Amino acid sequence: MKLLITGGAGFIGSNFIYYIQDRYPDYELVCLDLLTYAGNLKTLDKALKKNNFCFIKGDISDRETVFSLFETEKFDVVVNFAAESHVDRSIENPSVFLQTNIIGTQVLMDACRKYDVKRYHQVSTDEVYGDLPLERADLFFTEETPIHTSSPYSASKASADLLVLAYYRTFGLPVTISRCSNNYGPYHFPEKLIPLIISRALADESLPVYGKGLNVRDWLYVEDHCSAIDLIIHNGRVGEVYNVGGHNERTNIEVVKAILAHLGKPESLITYVKDRAGHDLRYAIDPTKINNELGWSHQTGFEDGIKKTIDWYLNNRSWWEDIISGDYKNYYEKMYGNR
Ligand code: NAD
Ligand code: TYD
Repeated sequence: MKLLITGGAGFIGSNFIYYIQDRYPDYELVCLDLLTYAGNLKTLDKALKKNNFCFIKGDISDRETVFSLFETEKFDVVVNFAAESHVDRSIENPSVFLQTNIIGTQVLMDACRKYDVKRYHQVSTDEVYGDLPLERADLFFTEETPIHTSSPYSASKASADLLVLAYYRTFGLPVTISRCSNNYGPYHFPEKLIPLIISRALADESLPVYGKGLNVRDWLYVEDHCSAIDLIIHNGRVGEVYNVGGHNERTNIEVVKAILAHLGKPESLITYVKDRAGHDLRYAIDPTKINNELGWSHQTGFEDGIKKTIDWYLNNRSWWEDIISGDYKNYYEKMYGNR
């Protein structure tokens, strides 16, 4: 079996590569990644030691690159993680989100059609459903919840999902889609809430919490997302969407305080800053479909997962210290300077 994993030098894609290498040591894996600010070849150091893994630097929205890769490699399965993934950046500059997340998806699917790929899997997000009210803890996103996006990021991901379903209906392309809640774990880029708080708390720096910190996210340890995608690409029904989440809802302030408690750092580091424009209030996944159809359930609860994640950041300082000492400094200044 030969898999193309796009965006594999990023957070979830790299975790997925390690997951598949462990479980299916005979599979041939090719990673196509543009190595944007979010991609890091160092993350794949261990993967690159295996003979049946190969890394190609390239853009999923570049038709020539993608088609010539498919011509030489003959993939059985394509799993598309490649994306611009940060909501705040999409508010600053939406264009690249449309290019990568929508056009990139189209180019990959066109190549899948031409080269008869057996499965195209789109890694999507619960953010395509918009948000739920804070005061309605009884409501969850199901696969039937209407698409209703808030940010340029989520709108680009939803557009891609619609395109994927259109390629299934019109061209019969064998597709599946997973819509997962917020992930956390190793190799998470420190612009996102959890690694940002861990890295800044360790340096005794102020911790920017948007608004009142009461927005709710449904946190899933990244390995549980990988196991869900594994089941979907092997046993999922073609043309179907699967929601992925483990009922681990927390307000942002609860997450920040949990990290501070684990690190033994004071809550006085918390600084409430101007809210994100269009900030989604609450995400919460109903995973009944993937539970019942594919027997998936999450294995790591939030308390264990956050401890494992903090330990990973403590034991792998050079990975994230290199990142935050580079261009990222300018990013932080630009995004948070006047907040
Ligand atoms: P990430 O930003 O950490 O990684 C994205 C990777 O894609 C990077 O390695 C980057 O270099 C690469 N990339 C970007 N543009 C590219 C292009 N044009 N061509 C090739 N490669 C390109 O993102 P992530 O958090 O690992 O998310 C992976 C996928 O999962 C995304 O599609 C995202 O929408 C989805 N998702 C993320 C979460 C989450 O909590 N992080 C939750 C649900 C779904
Ligand atoms: P983030 O990790 O960016 O993921 P998403 O926006 O895709 O859910 O943010 C998670 C939550 O944390 C979100 O409600 C915004 C909030 N947040 C902060 O309060 N401060 C920050 O510095 C960041 C990056 C996020």
